[in-house]
Amino acid sequence: MLQLRGVRIAGIARYAPERIVTNEDFERWLDTSDEWITVRTGMKRRHWAADDQATSDLAIVAAGNALAQAGLKADDIDCYIVATATPDFIFPATACIVAAKLGAVGKAAFDVSIACSGFIYALTVASGLIRSGVYRRIMLIGAETLSKIMNKQDRATAILFGDGAGAAVLEACDQDGFLAAELGADGTTPEILYQPSSGTRNPVSHAAIDAGMQYIHMAGREVFKFAVTSMVEATEIALRKAGLERRDINFLIPHQANRRIIDAAVKYLEVPREKVLVNIQEYGNTSSASIPMALAEAVEAKRIGGGDVVVLVGFGAGLSWGAVVWRWNSIGPQGASRP
Ligand SMILES: CC(C)(COP(=O)(O)OP(=O)(O)OC[C@H]1O[C@@H](n2cnc3c(N)ncnc32)[C@H](O)[C@@H]1OP(=O)(O)O)[C@@H](O)C(=O)NCCC(=O)NCCS
Repeated sequence: MLQLRGVRIAGIARYAPERIVTNEDFERWLDTSDEWITVRTGMKRRHWAADDQATSDLAIVAAGNALAQAGLKADDIDCYIVATATPDFIFPATACIVAAKLGAVGKAAFDVSIACSGFIYALTVASGLIRSGVYRRIMLIGAETLSKIMNKQDRATAILFGDGAGAAVLEACDQDGFLAAELGADGTTPEILYQPSSGTRNPVSHAAIDAGMQYIHMAGREVFKFAVTSMVEATEIALRKAGLERRDINFLIPHQANRRIIDAAVKYLEVPREKVLVNIQEYGNTSSASIPMALAEAVEAKRIGGGDVVVLVGFGAGLSWGAVVWRWNSIGPQGASRP
């Protein structure tokens, strides 16, 4: 029989690689400008991984810090989940590598692959596993090294993406943080945003590489059109499922894809600007890392307090979208009351 219980975020941390690429840097090799990038996207800088850094390398830094916050060791975690579109390998799962590098062997580990919606989907899955009593503690990571799969000569995509990782330790508790989720996907036009030669549809070959099919391909305007609507609708449905309304939102963490997309969604949802985390100017679009990195930043800055209703909302390749409504609890060890 299912044993229902609550879930809390016991630790949340982020990591971005050291190398910073500014808009001005792009002017040196692309036909672009700081003004164009700033006006169209809101981005000023992004962080790119070093040549010898893969996604798991970023993930373990964020995860190590989240563990420290939670007062836990890698071995205390029952299950490792990595949301990523840029795994170290197609297989094995990056989560296996992350767990091993952190010193946890023998635990459950798997990846969630749904691009920029990854953290939202994975948070919903992980919360379900804890609330239903399957696991007590889960390490949930959104991590990407998108710079590795970008054509740096393509001004339409090279400027948009950055690398980073955000990690959350989820833990069973009495007071439930998870209030509701709304997830969706429409896979009828995957080519709107995809990496054409990455799996079995167009296996890696000399011809595919000569055609640049190993890089991100994107129909930017098509993505833009669906982004605002999907974020607004997912938020409204998730709120409804939680028995709440727009005015109940204490803090909003949107996927950081484009400042104009965020502004339009926030305006429609009527959330005051000071209740929205925007860090796109610093990191660009880090796909499934963007939401946990932004959440970590909001927590560090004490912009979220105990009892706050926090909405996490994202969209991305698939096409896909999702929102989670969360009641914030204090982070850190639960001490004696730890189940
Ligand atoms: C990519 C994006 C910023 C482009 O902005 P836009 O206003 O739609 O611009 P367009 O694609 O219509 O391009 C307008 C012009 O700018 C040019 N352009 C594109 N990238 C450029 C760049 N980096 N610098 C200068 N000019 C650029 C285009 O070639 C085009 O030129 P043209 O009119 O001569 O054909 C915008 O569509 C976007 O953000 N879409 C969503 C992307 C996204 O979020 N993806 C990830 C989802 S998780």
